[in-house]
This record gives sequence, C-alpha cells and structure tokens, in this order.
Amino acid sequence: MTSQEIRQSFLDYFESKSHKIVPSAPVVPHGDPTLLFTNAGMNQFKDVFLGSGSREYKRAADTQKCIRVSGKHNDLEEVGVDTYHHTFFEMLGNWSFGDYYKEEAIAWAWELLTEVWQLDKSRLHATVFRTDEEAFNIWTKFLPNDRIHYFDEKDNFWEMGETGPCGPCSEIHYDRTPDRTGAKLVNADSPDVIEIWNLVFIQYNRNAKGELEELKSKHVDTGMGFERICSVMQKKSSNYETDVFMPIITDIAKLSGKEYSPELSDPTGIAMRVIADHIRTLTFAIADGAIPGNEGRSYVLRRILRRALRFARNLGFHEPILYKLVPILVKNMGDVFPEIIEQEETIMKIIKGEEDSFLQTLEKGINRFEDIVKKLGSSDTIPGDEAFQLYDTFGFPLDLTQLIAREKGLAVDNEGFNKYMQEQKNRSRAARKSHSAEVELPEIEVTSEFVGYTECDTQAEVLYINEDQIVFDKTPFYVESGGQISDVGTVLLNGAEYEVLDVKRSGNAIIHFCDREVQAKTGDTALIRINDNRRTDIKRNHSATHLLHEALRTVLGNHIKQAGSLVAPDHLRFDFNHFEKVTNEQLAKIEKIVNDKILENIDVMIREISIDEAQKNPKIKMFFGDKYGEVVRVITMDPEFSIELCGGTHVSNTAEIGLFKIISESSVAAGVRRIEAVTGKGVVDYMLELENKLTAKKHDEKELQNKIKMLEREIQNLKTERLKSDMDSADEAIDVNGIKLVAKQVDAESIDQLRDIAETSRDAFGKSAIILIAMVNDGKVQIACAVTDDLKKDYPAGKLVGAAAKIVGGGGGGKPHLATAGGKEPEKIAELLSNFPDIVRNFKNK
Ligand code: SER
Repeated sequence: MTSQEIRQSFLDYFESKSHKIVPSAPVVPHGDPTLLFTNAGMNQFKDVFLGSGSREYKRAADTQKCIRVSGKHNDLEEVGVDTYHHTFFEMLGNWSFGDYYKEEAIAWAWELLTEVWQLDKSRLHATVFRTDEEAFNIWTKFLPNDRIHYFDEKDNFWEMGETGPCGPCSEIHYDRTPDRTGAKLVNADSPDVIEIWNLVFIQYNRNAKGELEELKSKHVDTGMGFERICSVMQKKSSNYETDVFMPIITDIAKLSGKEYSPELSDPTGIAMRVIADHIRTLTFAIADGAIPGNEGRSYVLRRILRRALRFARNLGFHEPILYKLVPILVKNMGDVFPEIIEQEETIMKIIKGEEDSFLQTLEKGINRFEDIVKKLGSSDTIPGDEAFQLYDTFGFPLDLTQLIAREKGLAVDNEGFNKYMQEQKNRSRAARKSHSAEVELPEIEVTSEFVGYTECDTQAEVLYINEDQIVFDKTPFYVESGGQISDVGTVLLNGAEYEVLDVKRSGNAIIHFCDREVQAKTGDTALIRINDNRRTDIKRNHSATHLLHEALRTVLGNHIKQAGSLVAPDHLRFDFNHFEKVTNEQLAKIEKIVNDKILENIDVMIREISIDEAQKNPKIKMFFGDKYGEVVRVITMDPEFSIELCGGTHVSNTAEIGLFKIISESSVAAGVRRIEAVTGKGVVDYMLELENKLTAKKHDEKELQNKIKMLEREIQNLKTERLKSDMDSADEAIDVNGIKLVAKQVDAESIDQLRDIAETSRDAFGKSAIILIAMVNDGKVQIACAVTDDLKKDYPAGKLVGAAAKIVGGGGGGKPHLATAGGKEPEKIAELLSNFPDIVRNFKNK
C-alpha cells in the first residue's frame, strides 16, 4: 500500500466504526499557552477530556500533524541518526469521549492491524501499565501472555505535558527481528522492535500543583505513528525509505549530486535524513502561521532551520537549498493538507529569507569555531563565553554549537553559556525604560475585578499596598495585553492624589504603580480613574486594527496573519506575514476599505462565548499563542467583515473611529511587513503636521526664490565686472586724430549693462577717449557710446551714435558724454564697428 492508501484506510476503518473524521488541528496550537506546537492528536480535544468542552460527536478519528521539538516530548536529537524518530510526523488517532473504552479500543486496533492490514500477528507485542490488569486481560484474547508486558510510569503512563489530561496506556509494538525474538527489545530503544500504536486510557488531569485529579468520564486517546506504520506495511527497515520520505531524499540527492546512504552512521545519509525531516517541520509550522524568529516558538523554528542548513553545508551546499524542497512536499502531501498548497510561495520565501540571512554568518561562525578549537589546548570543552559569542555574533543556537562540538568529540559548557545568556537578558531588561518593567512582581494572592469595559472610574477598596504599588478589589485600568497598552490615570486616596504610571498583572491581582509611595492601608477606599481621553484614543486604534486586519486580507489575500500589534493612544502598529512590499495602490485600497467601514456607522457587537464555540467558527480570527480562557470575547464589526477574539477595549460604533490614515509601510523581518496608522485625533494631528510641513516648505521655497534672485543679481554683477575688465585693456584702442577710440561688440545682457560698461571704460581712460560698444539682443542691435569730457564738445556721443546707428538701419541719441541707439540689422554690426573710426575721423560738429 502507498502511504496515501494507508492513511485513507485508517480513516475509512474508523469511519465504519461510527467515528467522525475530523481535520488535523493546526500544528501551531490555538489557545493553549502550555504548548509551543501540537504534539499529539489529542491536543485539540483537551477541553473535552477535561470536561470543560464538548463536541457534537462522541467518537472521532483523524491524522494529526505533530511537532516534537520542545517540552515534554522532544525527539530532535534522535532525528537522522535513527530510523524512526522525527521532529514532524503524522499521528493517526481515534478517540472516544466518554463513550467506548479499553475493550473496543484494543479490539479495533487489533482488527485493523491484523485483519484489514494483515500484519503478521506473531510479530506483535502489547504493553500495559503495571497495574492495568483489565487491559492485560483484554489482550489475552489476542496475544499469548508472553507477548503482553507490564511496564511502569516511564513507558506506560502517558501525559500530554507538565499539566493536562493523562492516563495509563497500552502500546502495540512490532518485532522486526528475523526470528521474532524481540520480546526483550520492547521499550528498549531498538529499531528492531518499535512502538507503532499507543492506546491511552485518559482518566486523570495533572493539575498545576502536579497532582492527579480523577476526571468525570473516561476516554480513549490513541495515536499511531503514521511514518512508522508505513515502514512496517511497506516492509522497510527505516521510515526514511518509505514513500513518505524517499521523494524528498531523492531531491536532496539530486541537488547535491551525492548518493543517499541508508547506513545509519554515514554522514551523508544522516545529513539527508535530517534535512528531509526538518523541512517537513518548517513547511507545516510556517503554513500554520509560525515564523522563524528570536523567541519561543519562532526560535525553535529558527534553530531547526539553522540546524538543517548546517547539515546542508556538510553536503556541500553553500547556497540556500532548503526552500527548494518545499514543492516536493506540496506535491506529495498537498491533497491531505491543502494549507501547504495555499501557502507554498510564502513558505518558500520565508525559508529562503532565513537561509540567506544565516548563510551570511554561518561560514564565519564555523571559522570562529575552528579558532576556538585551536585555542582549547588539552581541554575538551568549548567555554561558555565562546559558545555565547557564537550565539550572539554569529547566530549559532546553542544546540548547533553542541552538534558541531559533538562531531569533533567535544563538549560545550552549557552552564557557562546560560550564565552569559542570563546576563544579557538582565542587561536588556535593565535597559527597558518603563519603571515597572524593572520591578520583580510580587506574588499577590488577591483578586482584582476588571470593570474597565464599562467604567472609567470606580470606588475601590485597597487589598494590598507596598510603597508605590497598590491593588484594589476592582479597577477600570486595562493591563497591557493583545497589543493594547496599559491605561494610566489617578488614584484619590485619603485626600491625596497619586498618578498611576503603569499597571501590571500578578496572578489575579492588578497592581497599580503610582508616582510615589502611597499613604494608605488595606481596607481604605479610593476613587480610581483612568485617563479617559487617552483610553478613547486607544479604543479607536484598537477597533481600527481589527478593520485593518480584515482589509489586509481582502486586498492582499487570506494568508495574512497577525504577527504582532501595538495599540497605543497616538497610533497603531500592525505586523503581518506578507512577502512583498505593499504597493501604494494596495495601501490606498486598504485605507479606503477601513474608512468605508468607519463611515458605514457599524455598531460594534461584543459578546462572550465558549472557546469551543469560537474554535468551531472558522470566520473568527484567533491568534496563535494567545492565552484564551474558557470564555472568550468576540468582537464583531459587521458579521460579514470582521469577527475577532479579543480582550481589548473598543468603540461602540465604527463611526467613533473618525478617520483612518496609514502613515507608513515597512519591513520588520524576512516575510513580515509593518503598517503604522493613525485614527481620530491622530489623523487631525497628522494633518496639522502635514500642513505645518507644507507651510514650512512654502516658506523655504520663498526663501529659495529670493536666494535665486540674489544669486542672479550677483551673477549679473560679476558678468558686468568681467565685461568691464575686458574693456579695460587699452590695447584695443586705436588712435584716430590723437583720440583713443574703442569700437567693439560685447556680450552684455541689457542696454543698461551696455551703458554701464561704456561709462566705466570711458572713466578708465580718463580723457581723449571715445568708446562705442554694441550688442545683439533679441534680433536687434543696441549701441552705447561714451565720450570723455574733454572731447564731448567736439564729438558729442549723441551725434556719433546716431551716425553709427544708421549703418545698422536705426537711430538714436543722447547726451554728449553718453548716448545709446538701436538698429534693426544685426548682420551689419561688423560694418558698423569697422566704419566707426572713419565716422570719428570725418566728424565735424556743426
Ligand atoms: N496521546 C498519545 C500519544 O501521543 C496517543 O495518541 O502517544
């Protein structure tokens, strides 16, 4: 059977036993803060087991995407060096919610394995919890006693995490030894006898104190490793040789030009297996909304990706390669998990972006590692400060350093690393500015009721007081959450008014941080009030954020998921996964959609429903990693438009938002864009700012114009000076009857300038000189003539210029010492100049 057929036949079998076939939950869990990733099929039914939720069916089956790389279930180190552990795998599961129990669970498992799938009965073993005789007895119907084994808590008591549903379990193991002698290898970490199916009989909840609480009903939760059952059914000794992994490995082999080796100790084989495993984790996690980054779940992904890249380097890849494997996964698994088809491009881009950025430092980090090794001397441990340097400067996650060290037979000083890491955290904490951020929150056992959805002020009783920190029985102060920042305000107490600078939650108490030590005792009554105007601005921005989110989905596509948000009084910030820059055209559309919704005067509906109901409604936006209680608030602004789970404060009608304006769009990280926007008063402020800028610009422009004019004037002056100095040279003068005569064409700009030059030149000669200069301006000739005082009687400039102008078809006149004239025939200007000495020579003043 192909893996596709195996998966389908499992679901068909349980459907025939009246199970509802449900889709896999996202691998990034909704609403469960205790989990980074979905690690078992039962996660999505946790609430049903605990009795806090219910479903319309009592039996269910599915294939669930699981990731086990952190917390209680972590198989990372085994990946690639054994044949059957993975960071990502599918878990085939069937469930009974207070319906059938051990009898049916065991009988059906047996029937499916041995009748439907025809596995060799003599190769099967069962394990049961050390006290579970009931399960033992059921198994005796199918198996001889020597193939039913008791084990203790370590192997046969299954728990989801530190807390949560749990119970004794019964596992089915498959013996691959040639002569079926594997009895001793059950639960011995041997690839020859592997666990294929775990039937858990959920009876308890492990509570936060670590105690087991009996549940109201008993349930069945089974999980079969899909890749393992494929290897058994396809008679392969390793999961990697099944049709689940082989296509990926074949692609890696092709890309690297190296042959795959199934040999467990072969480095090429290990590298290909690790990459084939890790690319599945990355693809599915990103498809469900996780993004590699620096914290929590994101950092786990980054670690996995960097680890895979380091193995790729061992195969000779120095360029991004992981992203090239996404299409083969999409091809083989897309019909079962269509989300990877939809998100293919996004996934590839995110992975490639991460690869690009890490490859920039990987090489340098590895060189650095070599240097460290050289300096080690006789020690076999990489010091903590060096490991921290590798992390801090080269982006080497600790486990990557450990991995490289291990390959060289070296250890890493983990404690030292953690010490430096902690110091860095302390430093950055100290650098944070909010004064309350630096304060270790006290554990306070009291409960404050939040009344801020409806009230801005309230009379409240002091329940706890410590210097500037004070807790009341109720408060309208909103504590930062879901991106919305905390309220500020005042406390009126015993005649004094204190400013509340910040609020924080500690357990169920809301601590108000005041501007100074508060003089009061528990039991006192205070009047506490938030800054109402500021809160109103915050509300506008929060409601607008919801509208923006949906508008982004409308314009850019349904892949848009919130990756971070800030709701402040003066602006809002929204981060989301998207690959390209959002174009101006798209931004304009987004803005318009939001503003249209604002102008539609939509009443904002706020109601509380159970988390189950919310989870069932695909239209409701919920955020991965957010903490949701059993009862959640649903904010609706037009049921056809925006429905979101949210604990924040909102306007009661969209019109209150006023107006919405995007002020920037930018990139925050590979594949994550950021939009900043303003609403209401923020838009007015923004407009004023623009207006001021515009006025300032106009003012600048005017200044600029004046400056230009001034410069132009200066240029003119300089030109005149240059022309004048050209005229200074007496060499150009010729002698006519003892008179120094200059007749010349100049390049002046205006008649004034021409006149000016003529005069300056004449004055420079002082006496016995006649100057005639001409220029062509606008197709006409202009002439200026200047005569020194001693000659002006006999050679008046006005007459000279008049005689000269005739040559160029014009006339003119003026005073005896300075005159100007014009002419219409510029082509005759040379004639004019050459004839002028004769005019003077023959001139007779009558
Ligand atoms: N929850 C059990 C497991 O993960 C069985 O589904 O093994």
